[in-house]
Amino acid sequence: MAKITFITSENESITVESNSGSVMELAVQHNVKGIDGDCGGVCSCATCHVHVAPEHFEKVGEASEIEKDMLELDDNVSDYSRLCCQMEVSEALDGAVFHVAK
Ligand code: FES
Repeated sequence: MAKITFITSENESITVESNSGSVMELAVQHNVKGIDGDCGGVCSCATCHVHVAPEHFEKVGEASEIEKDMLELDDNVSDYSRLCCQMEVSEALDGAVFHVAK
């Protein structure tokens, strides 16, 4: 079971638990504001953009090349940007904090 915290652009903190599925699906299920998942998780909309808290970036690792290409089209990208449809929930993500991108 992984406990994951989302922080919205309005500074609302939402902590949820899961053990499978994508991080985007988890956010959508819990109505995390700002995570829309418009493309359904196929890495083509960037409406699931988050900034991983730097101290937790090791848990998620680098974006894939496809993901990086998609992120390049988005504004407000940082070194800690990830698309959360491209991250699978697992024990490894326990404690991770994701700031929803504006
Ligand atoms: S849901 Fe579309 S890129 Fe993640």
